[in-house]
Parts: sequence; C-alpha cells; structure tokens
Amino acid sequence: MGIQDETRHLEEADKKYIWHPFTQMKEWVDEKPVVISEGRDCFIKDIYGRWYMDGVSSIWVNIHGHRKKEIDDAIKEQIDKISHSTMLGLSNVPAIKLAEKLIKIVQKSEVRSQKLDKNAERRTLNAKLTKVFYSDNGSTSVEVALKMAFQYWIHKGIGGKNTFLSLRNAYHGDTLGAVSVGGVETFHKAFSPLLFKAYSAPSPYCYRCEAGLSCPGCKLACLERMEDMLRENSSGIAAVIIEPLVQAAGGMIVSPTGYLKGVRDLCTKYNVLMIADEVATGFGRTGRMFACGHEDVAPDIMCLSKGITGGYLPLAATIATDEIFNAFLGEFRELKTFFHGHSYTGNPLACAAALACLDIFEKEETLKKLQPKIQILESWLNEISGLPHVGDVRNKGLMAGVELVKGKQKKEPYAWEEKIGWKVAYHARENGVFIRPLGNVVVIMPPLSISHENLLQLLKVIKDAIIAVT
Ligand SMILES: Cc1ncc(COP(=O)(O)O)c(C=O)c1O
Repeated sequence: MGIQDETRHLEEADKKYIWHPFTQMKEWVDEKPVVISEGRDCFIKDIYGRWYMDGVSSIWVNIHGHRKKEIDDAIKEQIDKISHSTMLGLSNVPAIKLAEKLIKIVQKSEVRSQKLDKNAERRTLNAKLTKVFYSDNGSTSVEVALKMAFQYWIHKGIGGKNTFLSLRNAYHGDTLGAVSVGGVETFHKAFSPLLFKAYSAPSPYCYRCEAGLSCPGCKLACLERMEDMLRENSSGIAAVIIEPLVQAAGGMIVSPTGYLKGVRDLCTKYNVLMIADEVATGFGRTGRMFACGHEDVAPDIMCLSKGITGGYLPLAATIATDEIFNAFLGEFRELKTFFHGHSYTGNPLACAAALACLDIFEKEETLKKLQPKIQILESWLNEISGLPHVGDVRNKGLMAGVELVKGKQKKEPYAWEEKIGWKVAYHARENGVFIRPLGNVVVIMPPLSISHENLLQLLKVIKDAIIAVT
C-alpha cells in the first residue's frame, strides 16, 4: 500500500470503526478527520505531515511536552522489567515509589499551610493526606473518593450520611457516580433517572452570578447559600466535592479568592468530608503543584489523574487521610475492607512514567519557569478582553477560558447550535493550532513546557481566529 492509500485507508477505517467521545458522529463522517501519528514538544503531527500546536495539552494531560526523553526512557526501562502485574494481593516497585513521592509532595504543601496560616493546624490535623489508592482515570478516582467518603461514615458508626453536596457547573467525570455529582446540564441531564440525588450549590461563576451580585461586594453569597444547605442537611451529607479554584469542563470558571478556603471551613464546621477533585488542576496547571495550595487548603480526600503521568499513560490516585484509612481497618470477618479495585490499578508502566514526570518538575524547576508564561497569558487575556465579542476572560495559571458573547452589554450568549467556539477552533486549526472549546468558551491550556515564543504564537493564532469568526 502506498503512503496515499495508507492515509486514505486510515481515514476511512476511522469513520467505519470508531465511535469518538463527546462527538456528534453524524457530523464527523462528513468531515476530514485529523489523524495524529507523532508528537514532539508542544506539537502534534498528522498523517500528512502537518504539525499543529497542541493548545489543549491533548485534553489537559500533557505537562512536559510530547516525546519527553526522561519519560520515554522510564517507560522503556520499565517495559524491560514488567509491564503489568495486579495490585490485588500483590504490590509493585514503581507503584510503591510513586505513592511515597506523591505523599511527600502533597504533605509539602501542608507544611507550607502550617507556616502561613494559624488555622491551618486545625485543618491539617483532621486532614493529613497519607494513603494512596490507585485507579486508572479521573472518573474512577472520583468514584473511589465518593465510595470511600460514604463508607467512612458507616465505619465510624454515623448513619444517614448517604449523599453529597456538589456545585452547579461541576464536572467530575462520566461514570454514573461522577455524573451524579456533576452539574453541566448539557452532558448530565439525559442521565438523571440513573443518578443518585445530590445537593447542588451555586457555582462561583462571578460573570453570570446566579444571585445577580458582583464580587467582592457580594461577600461570597454563593458560599452563604452552601452554608444554608449544610446547616439544614449535613446529617445526610458524606462530603462536599469540589474542583478547587477552577470548574474546568463547566467553562473554566475561576472561583473568587477565599471561596475555596471558605468551603474547607464549612466542611469542618458541619462535619462533612471535603473531596478536592484536582484531576484537571493538579500538577502545576494553576501555577502551584495543586490548586488547594493557593488557599492553603488541606482536603480530606484528593483526586489526581490527567497530568500525573505527564500525559503519557492512564493513571489516577485518590489520596486519603489516616483518619479515613483507619476507619476501614478491622477483622477480616467484619467486612470493613474497601471493596473496590480495577484490573490496571497501579500499573507499573504508568507509575514509572509518573515518577519520571515528577522528577522533571524538580530537575527543570517547571513551576518557577511557569510564572513568566502565566504573565504572558494574563497580559494577552487583558488585551483581548476589549474585543467586541469577548464577554469574559479568566485564568488560573496556565489554564484559561475566553467566553464569547453575542452581545457584550447584556452578556447575551451565542446559541449552542451556532458552534461559535468550534468555529474559532477550526479557524485556528487552519493556522496550525489545535484547540477544543467548551461551548462558547475558548479553552487555552498548552503543555506547561511550552516556550515563550510558541506561547505567543499560539495566542496570536487564537486572537486572529476570534476576530475572524466573531
Ligand atoms: C475535574 C475533573 N474531574 C474528573 C474528570 C474525569 O477524568 P477522566 O476523563 O480521566 O475520566 C475530569 C475530566 O476532564 C475533570 O476535569
């Protein structure tokens, strides 16, 4: 088969055999699919040899770029030893080393909290993260967290804490437990008959505040509403689950300063656990290792995935406190065991990749080098905020959203079917940049390793696309 026949065959076979996620396949079959064959640094290459800048880090996972030598080598080295063995009844070397490293990193931010905040001691005392439970992806890390939190209270002899409190516009994954605590109507409403009931608190979405208030004059009224719900219902609530600082898939909604810390304090006050879903925000994305670190918050359970392997292999970790772990200890016959586990849990290749990824953070001072890039992004956001159809710009670290509006004065949204975000994305693609929008929100989330020059080019192409399309 010649190269042209081979590329054509791949395109046809894709349409014939693959059902793509979050994709209207009726449209897909009429389009020319971009089929990726290679990657390097912050670029991906299609089967025709065209290079695109990876403006959304291969769906928010890539950290140090594609084909990062240290991660490539770590995986190859591990392949020569063993690729997979189960964590059910056995352990493996990379999984142990990674758990030790993760706990050190997580606790480092807790030590920092103790220094900075006199209330932190109380928080870290009841929330010292010490135990890693592995799974495979962000959704499973959330399922694990929900089941752990629910069963924790049962083991403590406190009955009735049968549900959760989550936020509108929340996204915690696509499995049914995660969808039950989700709040993105477009994705979640259809499944409502299958879901368990959860309390839904307002989203800290200042641009479209549910109460019609503006920040900081509102004095975080959304938090007060959450407190009302906890005051009335905490005896039935196992945990509050939250995406710290940024509701990512809900539209890159950045919460106002103090909100996250306020949630932690409410959880402590009303005796419910706090689950921080750092699947999207973790591993440097917001400018600190974990988003919780910005407000010196120590959750009771933390969910990690996406960037954990640098965007190489599926892996997730749900990290819990000793307090939670200890509640599951008992005699064999007591059935206090946490009955949960996946076939590829703690996969040695993925753990080896994650170890290499974390080493690079230290060796290359990734977080330090990120600061000027965040400044570049922020000054660009500031600049484009004056464009006639840019309603709101928001970011935390190298995680940004540009909300496009039809009418700026009244914040009138574009209709979903206008596909305005997609039009911008397609225009950018014609100019060598791959991005994927969230409805009317243009998402900017390149690998943390992106050079200043490439970042400026990425932003230029996106600005041109916004101007051309709106
Ligand atoms: C905050 C958050 N939690 C959970 C998930 C689900 O992760 P996964 O797609 O790996 O299942 C996502 C995915 O975008 C996410 O952003």
